Amino acid sequence: MTVAEYTDKEFLDRYLEKTKEHWQTLYSPILGILGNPQGKIILDIGCGPGELTNRLAELGARAIGIDTSEEWIDYCKKNYSNNKNAEFLTGNTNNLHMINSESIDTVIASMVFINIDRLDDVKKAFEEARRVLKRGGSFIFSDLDVKGIMDTTMPTREIIFPKYFKYDEGDSFNAKITLESGKVMTFQDRYWPNETYKRFLHENNFRLIETIGTGYKDREYKIFNCRKD
Ligand SMILES: C[S@@+](CC[C@H](N)C(=O)[O-])C[C@H]1O[C@@H](n2cnc3c(N)ncnc32)[C@H](O)[C@@H]1O
Repeated sequence: MTVAEYTDKEFLDRYLEKTKEHWQTLYSPILGILGNPQGKIILDIGCGPGELTNRLAELGARAIGIDTSEEWIDYCKKNYSNNKNAEFLTGNTNNLHMINSESIDTVIASMVFINIDRLDDVKKAFEEARRVLKRGGSFIFSDLDVKGIMDTTMPTREIIFPKYFKYDEGDSFNAKITLESGKVMTFQDRYWPNETYKRFLHENNFRLIETIGTGYKDREYKIFNCRKD
């Protein structure tokens, strides 16, 4: 899925249906890793429809959601206007100039790097996460477990590789997903290997505490739980 697709109304509506399953596969496990968010300042980069951001604020955090899609940010501002602890801003993970250095307790990036086309922009996102986090702060991000999906042949998922796909850094592929309603969504995604993430974590002095598998047979998504040392 390209970022441009997050401006298309029909695509956004289908994505909202998809987020229902994200509660089980992504948001709840992330909340579990986080523990009690009360009093924390949490930045949700690539927040999309902002459901997780809003929930964190309901649980007592000050939560800031950032996304490149103005459509999503407008949606979030309208939907969560009664939640004074949730703030939504348009912005790019590669330049979080609106956020002060060492001001954030936790940075979350759920299914965002998969949408970033350039390696250098993924790299910058890790550098920015490091800059804005307080020492000892958490960086939690997720991605598709592409190989897991291939191995387990999931009924509602299909990964379609182009002819010359090498499972290499930045290769693009399509993920076709059948929603509960029977509607189909096709995402154009990027493949970033674990080694890429581990390299950027190392370069930015993050410690990888654990990687958790979630979703279908625990082989659909990967959630990385990291700490800034
Ligand atoms: C797959 S959605 C994930 C949404 C939400 N985090 C979730 O887990 O459901 C990816 C989101 O990242 C946003 N995005 C993509 N590239 C971005 C970037 N460079 N900076 C900020 N947001 C970005 C997209 O607009 C989209 O809303």
